[in-house]
Amino acid sequence: MLRGTGSSPEDCYASVNHIPGVKGFPFVGNLFDLKGNFEHFLSDQYENYGPLSRIGMVGHDGLLALGPELSEEIFLNRDGNFSTKLGYRDSIGLFYRSGLLLHDSDEHKKRRRSTQSVFKNAILVEHLRIMNEVFAHHLDSWKNENYLLFYQQVKSVLLSVAARIFLGIEELGGKTDLINEAFINVTEGMLCIFTIDVPGFKYHRAMNGKRPLDHFMYDMISERRANPGADMFSQLCIEKDENGNYLADEDIVASINFLMFAAHDTTSSALSHMVMLLSSHTEWQERLREAARELEKPVLEYQDLDKLVDFQLAFMETLRLYPSAPILARATLNDCSLGGYDLPARTFVSTCPGFNHRMAEWWDNPNLFDPERFAPERAEHKRHSFNYVPFGGGVHKCIGMHFAKMQVTAFMHQLLLRYRFKTFANYVPDLQAIPLPKPKDDLPIIIERIQHQVRIAHH
Ligand code: HEM
Repeated sequence: MLRGTGSSPEDCYASVNHIPGVKGFPFVGNLFDLKGNFEHFLSDQYENYGPLSRIGMVGHDGLLALGPELSEEIFLNRDGNFSTKLGYRDSIGLFYRSGLLLHDSDEHKKRRRSTQSVFKNAILVEHLRIMNEVFAHHLDSWKNENYLLFYQQVKSVLLSVAARIFLGIEELGGKTDLINEAFINVTEGMLCIFTIDVPGFKYHRAMNGKRPLDHFMYDMISERRANPGADMFSQLCIEKDENGNYLADEDIVASINFLMFAAHDTTSSALSHMVMLLSSHTEWQERLREAARELEKPVLEYQDLDKLVDFQLAFMETLRLYPSAPILARATLNDCSLGGYDLPARTFVSTCPGFNHRMAEWWDNPNLFDPERFAPERAEHKRHSFNYVPFGGGVHKCIGMHFAKMQVTAFMHQLLLRYRFKTFANYVPDLQAIPLPKPKDDLPIIIERIQHQVRIAHH
């Protein structure tokens, strides 16, 4: 089936010919413009048609809602017109029908509450300990290397972390490929034009990649209830609803699957862009290294996270320039209005955080890497409540935001203490923008081991 066309007329997204914009090619709409030069495409739309414009999505019309004012209306969703369930139905929904973004209003609230149980502080402390162990092991294994493809490496490190923290599996062994393939295929499947589940189609490969992972999880549920660990999967297995019943098996599997999906590629993307930026802005690399050294410990503890202020500034700036979730989808549930236009029910609307992040109206020298723009004395991100939205906003705001910050900070802390890193001379990044922002060449870097890593404090 072609995306967005639905099996019956009620399932189709609405036409929005009354809104100015472009239509794109039959079937694929503006997919290739979006994939080709995402940023230029968005700027052209904004300049030519204003904050709200029509574009061709795969198989249906859609709207682009650009700028903080429209983001505010959509994210805060005061009248309940904008649905993530309907917005993500034909992308994430094809693979994760029951993920948090696939629910609206009360059902979403209920599920979000039970998912929150895996992000309690006491559990995060244990997660940090595990992350540190895995990072140390992987980073030490680089000691005889002087060149590596950072994106590939970081994906593999984060996969090991995910296996331990999300699933509670010490050694992935033969399951590593299974999980890795599942991620890669599903992400690719999000962009396939035809959602046909027969061999030979990308969509089929994506579906096939995911099924064994689901079965693997179903098989573990009863054992985890008997012997729960601190891992997220165990926590969901023992979580009970307001009536004292365990969550349904399919909800547990769907939640953990979706959490892993939402966590893995986003954080790999963020870390790769951060390392790319710190490779060319060596003064910031040294500044962060010095801050890491000042802590005088080889691994971070939970209470140290807030002390690494410069790390937070650099992370925020990385996500401003390269937000890991580049397009956020919604569809209208009712006839309503947005940006001065009337929209029919079932209108597909996309917002793009990266556009808001580079608007000259809201940022000084928006294309410059300048982490101090987030420092309290400048606070450019506070010029509008929605000019900085890498984690979205409103009730669907990223539930893993603190977890992601913790993971990025703990990884960078250990990396900076062990290695100096840089890209090759005259390196020009070639970046993929959608569906997942990443360096197309997996970011080749040169690393140099630092001999005396850290002064250990004597208490
Ligand atoms: C740099 C890392 C990350 C970025 C930039 C990011 C970004 C986002 C954004 C923009 C949304 C909102 C989507 C929308 O409104 O349409 C979101 C939602 C979500 N994120 Fe993240 N995310 C990151 C890491 C994580 C991690 C580590 C986890 C889990 C451990 C996670 C789990 C989720 C979940 C479950 C949702 C859906 C929340 C809901 O619908 O209530 N994310 N994320």
